[in-house]
Amino acid sequence: MRVTDARLTQVCVKTLRQGTRELIDRLYAIEVSAHAHPWTWDNIHSCFEENYSCLNTGVFAGKTLMGYAAVSIVYDEAELWTIGVARAYQGHGYGRLLLEGSLALATLCQAKRCFLEVRESNRVAIALYESHGFKRAGVRKNYYEPYGDHPAENALTMSLDLESSRYAHLNLEGEVSELARYLRALP
Ligand SMILES: CC(C)(COP(=O)(O)OP(=O)(O)OC[C@H]1O[C@@H](n2cnc3c(N)ncnc32)[C@H](O)[C@@H]1OP(=O)(O)O)[C@@H](O)C(=O)NCCC(=O)NCCS
Repeated sequence: MRVTDARLTQVCVKTLRQGTRELIDRLYAIEVSAHAHPWTWDNIHSCFEENYSCLNTGVFAGKTLMGYAAVSIVYDEAELWTIGVARAYQGHGYGRLLLEGSLALATLCQAKRCFLEVRESNRVAIALYESHGFKRAGVRKNYYEPYGDHPAENALTMSLDLESSRYAHLNLEGEVSELARYLRALP
């Protein structure tokens, strides 16, 4: 199933506002299935704390949460902290929708650029980012620590100019706009 086909029916991206235990448990299960080096439950929980200007989005098929992303906003800069789709559902277009929803939301919150870092070996994620206009900005040598049999790995840093991206012209409504207003009101 491609999401583009399902988009008109049951697939949607929503903002995740309340970090309930049930939600964090589900996000953590996705995190563990998606990432070789997952965040902890507490890391995810912290994305919902009020002192972080963090945009949390989830992609749903019907009522089932398939993946999520967290983007932090500091002044006019956004940083993609994490993005992951449950392993069984990867490669079906959910990641693309999630990234687009997060970038649209960051743009609504008046972020001018979005930054991220990614393992040099993560060709799927790099292809996803480049297909959305992210440019390679630099390399952080041995940024990711060794684990198991894996040696330390370089991080590729990437950035996207949101002002000249197509997201600058999006006119999103409803819940997304409400969240953008809420975030702008934070001190
Ligand atoms: C990276 C991730 C979020 C992408 O989500 P996804 O739902 O699997 O990807 P999509 O099906 O939406 O595909 C989006 C793009 O990714 C790339 N992609 C997806 N699967 C790919 C594959 N097997 N090989 C190469 N590129 C691939 C393509 O560019 C694709 O765009 P296209 O469909 O127009 O060709 C997901 O694979 C994931 O959770 N990976 C593990 C966690 C992770 O690495 N997160 C990023 C950390 S920086």
